[in-house]
Amino acid sequence: MKSSCSTTSSTNFIHSAFFIILWFWFSIIFLAGQKNSQIHAAGGGGQWVVLQKNIGITAMHMQLLNNDRVVIFDRTDFGESNITLPDGKCRNDTFELAIKNDCTAHSVEYDVISNSIRPLMVQTDVWCSSGVVAPDGHLIQTGGFNDGERVVRTFEPCGNCDWIERGLGLVNRRWYATNHILPDGRAIIIGGRRQFNYEFYPKSSATSSAFTLPLLRETNDPNEENNLYPFVHLNVDGNLFIYANNRSILLDYKNNIVVRSYPPMPGGHPRNYPSTGSSVLLPLRNLGQPSIEAEVLICGGAPRGSYAQVVAKNFIRGLDSCGRIKITDKSPRWIMETMPLPRVMGDMILLPNGHVLIINGVEAGTAGWEDGRNPVLNPVIYRPNNPFGKRFETQNPSSIPRVYHSTAILLRDGRILVGGSNPHMLYNFTGVLYPTELRLEAFSPTYLDSISSNIRPKIISPAPKVRLTYGQRSIIRFSIPAGALLVETGISITMVSPSFTTHSFAMNQRLLVLSRGKATVVAGTSSTYQVQVTMPNSVVLAPPGYYLLFVNHQEIPSEGMWVQIQ
Ligand SMILES: *[C@@H]1O[C@H](CO)[C@@H](O)[C@H](O)[C@H]1NC(C)=O
Ligand SMILES: *[C@@H]1O[C@H](CO)[C@@H](O)[C@H](O)[C@H]1NC(C)=O
Ligand SMILES: *[C@@H]1O[C@H](CO)[C@@H](O)[C@H](O)[C@H]1NC(C)=O
Ligand SMILES: *[C@@H]1O[C@H](CO)[C@@H](O)[C@H](O)[C@H]1NC(C)=O
Repeated sequence: MKSSCSTTSSTNFIHSAFFIILWFWFSIIFLAGQKNSQIHAAGGGGQWVVLQKNIGITAMHMQLLNNDRVVIFDRTDFGESNITLPDGKCRNDTFELAIKNDCTAHSVEYDVISNSIRPLMVQTDVWCSSGVVAPDGHLIQTGGFNDGERVVRTFEPCGNCDWIERGLGLVNRRWYATNHILPDGRAIIIGGRRQFNYEFYPKSSATSSAFTLPLLRETNDPNEENNLYPFVHLNVDGNLFIYANNRSILLDYKNNIVVRSYPPMPGGHPRNYPSTGSSVLLPLRNLGQPSIEAEVLICGGAPRGSYAQVVAKNFIRGLDSCGRIKITDKSPRWIMETMPLPRVMGDMILLPNGHVLIINGVEAGTAGWEDGRNPVLNPVIYRPNNPFGKRFETQNPSSIPRVYHSTAILLRDGRILVGGSNPHMLYNFTGVLYPTELRLEAFSPTYLDSISSNIRPKIISPAPKVRLTYGQRSIIRFSIPAGALLVETGISITMVSPSFTTHSFAMNQRLLVLSRGKATVVAGTSSTYQVQVTMPNSVVLAPPGYYLLFVNHQEIPSEGMWVQIQ
């Protein structure tokens, strides 16, 4: 097959009033800009701002760490980036395919608070790799390409830290694999190109090997693959839900047993790379109940055959469908919904209030070099608890196409950081469709509009980085600006694990709605409230590690507070 992640040298893989006016203005521009008759949900909202005009690299992979800094990286083998390494450092890598002595950085750290960039030194090739945050808060990144395909690297969230290369920590090459944090704190690494198996990091013993996963062999389309970067979610029963191409299973990874196979999603279209759609585990509620349910939502992708067609420059319209399934159900079935727009390579990001943001991507074509067309500039919000048919709302557009190799992650303040986009094999800034994009942007959903500031909660306690234990009852104190009336039923306390995002899939993304008591006014105050919440009672519901805790009032979230559950 024609490979999008091929290299020139590798033939193996050929491889309020103001706001009303603003809204009105945006709507006019937006409607005027519509070329087709696609019906968009009324509304629109949200604001875009460019944070950085040039971070020097393309944000192909992003992870927020608990110091409010984002580790961003691209690949090492395209030549020079647009940011130099500090202190005259250079990478001297005899195995490098592009420039063996390269004095530019291929990874940077973005400090959200100061809105600044710091170049980082990553040695081996991290192209199309995967990652997970360990329970103590450091990033574990695995695999990549060429000299990096079996390498494990770590990154600590500290003031001036840099990448640490941990050597060949993987038994198999992992290029386009998916990682997930496990209840015991290890990472599982699943699949990758021509890898129909999974392994763990760290290894339980030096002789630990990989475990076969026939699903990946069976769903590997001979012409298109369509099962790379499989969607993986940790179910509430401790098994892993895995979606590859057009099939899904529940895997008991400890015993390497497929516990169940789910019915195929109607339509039978592929949803994984390069027919890239996206997937989320919807917010988990009723955590203390035995009947806790888990639902998965998969949206977009490209119809079967699309990848073969792009070779002939025929860009087929992407899928506008989403499938939603209760994976804990005895007789689960897919419920299909229609998005306002088709979307390939969209990112799905859980918002603090439990809504899902669908952002980035294109209307036609597939993932891969030069393979996407018609960027979808409008994000869409999906409200899982709204009645069927009333869940999608189109948001205001960005002006920057975010096509192949673009990413999105949730920040602590509730904004969505958006970066990347480079559908070319190398960096090309002129003379190409969708030039290599070095700008970093933030999308602020409507909940950040100043019109809501009088009802926006502010967390007073717990203090940042507080350690909480499983099942612990803890008091959350928050204020709501004076004069605002607290509606008891409008309060929800959520906990979100920050995702490792690449190739349109946010790995390890998880949102828990905490069980709570009644919110009461703190004596002697008029606008400070407290509520007792119960932390999740098991490592399966919430694998150990750092989460962002949010208080939501009428679906308006506070800023998040980092908490560590252990
Ligand atoms: C990146 O660097 C190249 C080579 O120095 C330069 O031509 C180009 O204008 C730079 N692009 C940006 C967006 O800074
Ligand atoms: C790069 O490393 C090689 C082998 O370790 C060494 O021979 C060479 O001098 C180094 N080059 C530079 C520019 O540092
Ligand atoms: C799933 O995809 C395969 C091709 O990889 C196809 O043969 C099969 O019919 C599809 N399944 C369904 C239910 O459409
Ligand atoms: C893209 O960039 C590469 C490397 O600079 C260059 O060789 C190639 O000609 C560029 N392609 C276009 C279409 O400009």
